[in-house]
Amino acid sequence: MIVVKGLCKRFGDARVLEDLSITVHEGETFVLLGTSGSGKTVLMKHLEGLLKPDSGQVIIDGHDLTACDGEELMEVRKELGIQFQAGALFDSMSVFDNVAFPLRELGHVREPEVKRRVAEVLALLGLAEATEKLPGELSGGMRKRVAFARAMVMKPRVLLADEPTAGLDPLTTDTVDDAIVTAQKALGATAFIITHDLPTAFRIADRVGLLHEGKIIGAAAPEEFKASTHPAVKAFLKDWLESEAAARKL
Ligand SMILES: Nc1ncnc2c1ncn2[C@@H]1O[C@H](COP(=O)(O)OP(=O)(O)O)[C@@H](O)[C@H]1O
Ligand SMILES: [Mg+2]
Repeated sequence: MIVVKGLCKRFGDARVLEDLSITVHEGETFVLLGTSGSGKTVLMKHLEGLLKPDSGQVIIDGHDLTACDGEELMEVRKELGIQFQAGALFDSMSVFDNVAFPLRELGHVREPEVKRRVAEVLALLGLAEATEKLPGELSGGMRKRVAFARAMVMKPRVLLADEPTAGLDPLTTDTVDDAIVTAQKALGATAFIITHDLPTAFRIADRVGLLHEGKIIGAAAPEEFKASTHPAVKAFLKDWLESEAAARKL
């Protein structure tokens, strides 16, 4: 579903992506880890078609994003139902109306179908009781889930998320991440998710990989990734364990 081939991107003298290749299969959840500044967001912007590589290709469901521009790119994104960042909610609209908004914008989805799809997605994300509430009445974690509900109601085939739970406390992060993955699996989307949160990565991923020196290394199922003998993967896991231990001592 997502194929990245030989992607290279530099800014001035800084080589951020260097011959990066990865394939994510239909329905798979791939989670990308990496230290801050390693180029995760730069890679995501290529998957979204927002940055052009110096060389290499990004092919999503057979469409080469690197070969199209402007309106053509918008068409491809729409056709693929690629979902980008979950944006801000409309404060004066109920949860229901927020989630229904993109469906109603389409103009051709009848109201009973709108109701059915919104109810389905709210239930999947554990938001059924919040249907008639306003965003201001919800916790931060619930607001994030509503934003994702609004994204998922369009049944995206590809879900791209760059640190979707940044800024939430650990407990809320768990419920939000689990809700996102439950909804994504139920709707059959392929997901490419960036997180700095290791427990989350291991819980939700079919495969995990590490962005290191411009390439994705160690890509494997969580258990296999944890047992990797790759020096950079080992160093990344060790640093994380040490910072956790230090945090527990505080
Ligand atoms: N538009 C840009 N111009 C110049 N440098 C950039 C630009 N975007 C990102 N970079 C650099 O690329 C590197 C990777 O950034 P980023 O992808 O945001 O890292 P992260 O892994 O934390 O998401 C950083 O050194 C950053 O300064
Ligand atoms: Mg980033």
